Amino acid sequence: MNQIIIDVTRLEPRQKHPAVFQAFDNVEDGHAVVIHNDHDPKPLYYQLLGERGNTFSWTYLHQGPEIWQVEIRKRQADEETVGELAASDTRKAEYFRKLGIDFCCGGRKTLTEACMEKGLDVMKIRQDLHNTQRQPSLGPQLDFNSFTLAFLCDYIVNVHHGFVQQQLPLIEELCQKVAAHHGDHYPFLQEVYELFYRLRCELLTHLKKEEQIVFPSIRLLESGGSAIGFDSIGDPLVLMEQDHDQAGEILHSIRRLTQGFTVPAGACNSMRLLYHKLQLFEEDMFQHVHLENNILFPKAAELDRKRAAQAP
Ligand SMILES: [Fe+2]
Ligand SMILES: [Fe+2]
Repeated sequence: MNQIIIDVTRLEPRQKHPAVFQAFDNVEDGHAVVIHNDHDPKPLYYQLLGERGNTFSWTYLHQGPEIWQVEIRKRQADEETVGELAASDTRKAEYFRKLGIDFCCGGRKTLTEACMEKGLDVMKIRQDLHNTQRQPSLGPQLDFNSFTLAFLCDYIVNVHHGFVQQQLPLIEELCQKVAAHHGDHYPFLQEVYELFYRLRCELLTHLKKEEQIVFPSIRLLESGGSAIGFDSIGDPLVLMEQDHDQAGEILHSIRRLTQGFTVPAGACNSMRLLYHKLQLFEEDMFQHVHLENNILFPKAAELDRKRAAQAP
């Protein structure tokens, strides 16, 4: 596979991002640009996502502390991402869930990339995915793809934002109590509490941004209007996805610290309850972000592109 390597540490600051954009635009579909840097180039990821959309994968080849190497691969035009596959059929989503393939914050990866990352045989996975269509549907599932965007916004607010707002204070209080009582024996509990506290602060701000700006803008777009306070809905959507990634990283750290929510032998009931609630919270966040990243936001961006194309 062809790739272009750019050592951005050798470039003037104002040349860095334009040089990567130019290389990315010139590279053929399926090929990659690899960048070398002396710090995490994550801001470039969000700029690329905002300006080129879901046309690339972003894979860290080396992550600090002194050197960062990232492979930015241009997607083939016909390659579906795991997020798109999961959004198309709940049986496929369930299959990914069983394999531990992240179709939520990791949903922009192609099937090939996700399989390579997990060491899975992509041909077999493709066949299994095809076979899921012969399986009966998973009971009375909601067909989110058939919802209007306004209805999907209402659903997300009522079901997922409601759950988050109800659970955040309860879990935070429980985290604090368990860390205070058992922190001597399990020192990681204090870190779990601090991480959850950060998650609470970030999520409450995030929900407000969605409910006051992003979702009303999507409802307006759907009824023929335009986004509130922005030329395009693309920028706020990228910011929302950035928040999702941060929340995903915090939840990932909590999962790692608690050994995948495995309750230590002899743990008290409060600790059991905490682990159970943390796991339910993670599951709900996963579905919540899946609905936004893989269904609501791509459809809103598509509507916005059509509106822009029709503008005089
Ligand atoms: Fe949300
Ligand atoms: Fe969100």
